[in-house]
Amino acid sequence: MNTALLVFLIILGILLFPIIWTFVIAKIARRIYPFPIPHFMTEVIDNPVRRKYIQKPDQIAQRMGAAPGNIVVEVGPGKGSYTKAVARKIEPEGVVYAIDIQQPILDKLQVRIDEAGIKNIIPKLDDAYNLDFDDNSVDIIFAIACLPEIPKPVKVLKEFKRILKPGGIISLCELFIDPDYPLRRTEKKWADEASLILEEEFGNWFSYQLNFSKH
Ligand SMILES: C[S@@+](CC[C@H](N)C(=O)[O-])C[C@H]1O[C@@H](n2cnc3c(N)ncnc32)[C@H](O)[C@@H]1O
Repeated sequence: MNTALLVFLIILGILLFPIIWTFVIAKIARRIYPFPIPHFMTEVIDNPVRRKYIQKPDQIAQRMGAAPGNIVVEVGPGKGSYTKAVARKIEPEGVVYAIDIQQPILDKLQVRIDEAGIKNIIPKLDDAYNLDFDDNSVDIIFAIACLPEIPKPVKVLKEFKRILKPGGIISLCELFIDPDYPLRRTEKKWADEASLILEEEFGNWFSYQLNFSKH
C-alpha cells in the first residue's frame, strides 16, 4: 500500500470515528429507552446530501403515486422537504396533513410553509397510535425514517390501515444511517402482521421505500 493511500485511510478513520461511535451509542440508548428524536436533530438529518443523492423528495413523492386532489397524511414531517414535494404533486385541491407528537417541529414547519407561500400543508399535533382521522378517509399515508422510532410499529400500521381508503397507499421509507433503521424484511414483517399487502418496493439496502395497500 502506498504512503499517500495509508495517510488518506488514517485521516478518514479519524474523521469517521466520532460519527460511527455517535451512531452506535445512539442505537444502544434508543433500544434501552425509546424516545422521539429531539426536534433539533430533524434539522440535521434533512440535509442537502441526503436530498440530492440518497432520498430525493421528488422521487419519493412520485413513487408513492401522489396525484392531484389526494388527501395525504404524513407522520413525522421533520423539516418538511418531503411534505413540500408531495404537496406540489397534489395541487390544487389535495391536502397534506403533517402530523407529529412534538409541537416545536410543527411550529417550525408552519414558519417554513408560510415563508414558501404553500397553502395545502396543514401541520397538526396528533399521535400515530390514535390518529384524528375518520376510517377510510385518506388516499396516501407516508412516514420517512419515522415508523421504527415508534415503539409499537405494528399497532401504528393498523391505525394507518384504519384511516386508509380502499385503493390507497401506505408508503414507508427508511435510511441506513437512522439509528432506528430496520431491515427491509423486518418492516415487511410488521406490515404483514398488520395485514397489509406489499404493492411495490424501491431502492437498496441503504435506502428503501415500500408501498402497501389494504384488502
Ligand atoms: C426521525 S423524525 C422524521 C423526520 C423526517 N421524516 C425526515 O425524514 O427527515 C421522526 C418524527 O416522528 C415523530 N414521532 C415519533 N413518535 C410519534 C408518534 N407516536 N406520533 C406521531 N409522530 C411521532 C417524532 O416526533 C419525529 O419528529
